[in-house]
Amino acid sequence: MCGIVGYVGHRPASDLLLEGLSRLEYRGYDSAGIAVVDDSEIEVRKRLGRVAGLIEMLELQPVAGSIGIGHTRWATHGEASDINSHPHRDETGRVVIVHNGVIENYDRLKSELAMSGRGFRSTTDTEVVAQLIGWKLDQLIESGRAADDPETCWDALQAALGELKGTYGLGVLFRDCPGHLWTTRCGSPLVVGVGDQEFFLASDTSPLIGYTRDVVYLDDHDTARLGSDGIEVRHRDAGIRDIPVQTIQDEAVDIELVDCPHYMLKEIYEQPESVRSALRGRLNLDDATAVFGGLNADLAEVRRIDRIVLTACGTSWHAGLVGEYLLEEFARIPTEVEYASELRYRNAPLTDNTMVFAITQSGETADTLAALRECRRKGHKTLAICNTVGSTIAREADGGIYLHAGPEIGVASTKAFTSQVTVLALLALYLGRMRHMSFRAGQSFVEALQGMPELISETLECHDRVRRVAMRYADCENFLYLGRQYNFPVALEGALKLKEISYIHAEGYPAAEMKHGPIALVDRQTPSVFVTPRGGVYEKVISNLEEIKARGGPVIAIAGRDDDRIGQLADEVISVPDVPEFLQPLVTSIPLQLLAYEIALLRGCNVDRPRNLAKSVTVE
Ligand code: G6P
Repeated sequence: MCGIVGYVGHRPASDLLLEGLSRLEYRGYDSAGIAVVDDSEIEVRKRLGRVAGLIEMLELQPVAGSIGIGHTRWATHGEASDINSHPHRDETGRVVIVHNGVIENYDRLKSELAMSGRGFRSTTDTEVVAQLIGWKLDQLIESGRAADDPETCWDALQAALGELKGTYGLGVLFRDCPGHLWTTRCGSPLVVGVGDQEFFLASDTSPLIGYTRDVVYLDDHDTARLGSDGIEVRHRDAGIRDIPVQTIQDEAVDIELVDCPHYMLKEIYEQPESVRSALRGRLNLDDATAVFGGLNADLAEVRRIDRIVLTACGTSWHAGLVGEYLLEEFARIPTEVEYASELRYRNAPLTDNTMVFAITQSGETADTLAALRECRRKGHKTLAICNTVGSTIAREADGGIYLHAGPEIGVASTKAFTSQVTVLALLALYLGRMRHMSFRAGQSFVEALQGMPELISETLECHDRVRRVAMRYADCENFLYLGRQYNFPVALEGALKLKEISYIHAEGYPAAEMKHGPIALVDRQTPSVFVTPRGGVYEKVISNLEEIKARGGPVIAIAGRDDDRIGQLADEVISVPDVPEFLQPLVTSIPLQLLAYEIALLRGCNVDRPRNLAKSVTVE
């Protein structure tokens, strides 16, 4: 949801900014731009479209300088256009900024600034921020302060920030203080990479890889000045802060595509390894349970839990639904799964011993962060199930469990889902073993989990079969996805994958519930994808499948190995290895990821950069 980069040092800034933007493009790709301090001017290059277009522009109109900021946009306020692209300047050209977030009171500020004679070029909320900082700066200069004194810039910036409502991560250049770059955040992520006499600024750590592993994570209302004399951080209320430099883990490194045509495909194929990483060091065979290093909850506290709330958005919410089945079945703890965007405003009554888990790949989703903060404010223990080390949610939660899936770049989430389900299964085992689960049952659970990476590898062998199925159905405009119990969230996730990357209308439903509405959609052009491996509800799902067949709808079945019965009923069968019912989502979700991928390719869609979407949604 917009990516920000910045650089202060001794190398040509534009190369570094462009490379960083390419790595952050998953956050938005409506437009891209950079601003570089060239002697005493700030040169801006920006344009509609992808970073590749900006690179071409810079080949024709290069900029020199070793301090700069850059931006890749996911449009919120103002259409995607050249003029609305970041960076934005103030009226005088003294202030140039990039912004990630949403300024909620921009309309009022804009009217006030317009009344004071400021003319606006764009329709963005960001230009209002640039103009506001510029206006504050002008007032300070008029009162006798020196434009080239960094303290004047600090004060102009702080005065402007005091009037903003909403969320922001900002990179700010002041023309008259050309040796420095300012950055500040409130609700939008920012990290500063600390190199050898150089600093890197980014929305997440991916642009820093290859340059430095030492980072400083800024908190809300921190403002940092980066210059050749070092980094200075001031907090809105606490003054100058000494922020520790942390070292990023190795796992953040593998972000190259190598021989894979798309990140999504690469990430689908990484699942045996990412699930193995989620399990690594977390199975205790002697006690037949799971162990976690970072829960930060003592045993008595964990034993007292009488309710669990899982809150998340998108695919992570679907993983949460699987978690609900797991936690209720094995830990016997009442569990609710809440859309973070609803929970944050709902004022749901929670018991004293409710534990809240925020499930998030990025650790930056604005709604999930807000829901977590709201629950913390009410005194509940909040934990994160998160992939991105050092992300805002990971840092703000009381504790948590990392997925260790490695970076997920494809906008459509794949390996994060299976890692989240794996971690939730570990959690169900851990909480179950503390309560009712027998040693023997714990052992079978552990053994089943240990076998999953291998079985996921085996599942991936269905790819050729999925490709052939995709060729037959790629032209359909509607799909139904149906499953029951553990495979109901899988049906939702399968439908979401197809919608996200192929723009086909798809609905996921509990298989039996489809009789109450969606069955009206069934015709010869509307395939139903049944997720129906063997298990407790197998017979019931077969009856639902017959109901669709009776109405002439084509059926694609995700079924267990050698299931002749399904073979006779369904038009297409994609088989997956037989696994215990509670772990079926780890295999049944994979053909659905591949089906969405293959159909999107056949329809000529941009698999890794689907229209209108962003990987990390840092606005409400
Ligand atoms: C966006 C992404 C989805 C993701 C959701 C939640 O919508 O496109 O793939 O599932 O955000 O993201 P999170 O990082 O919190 O898991």
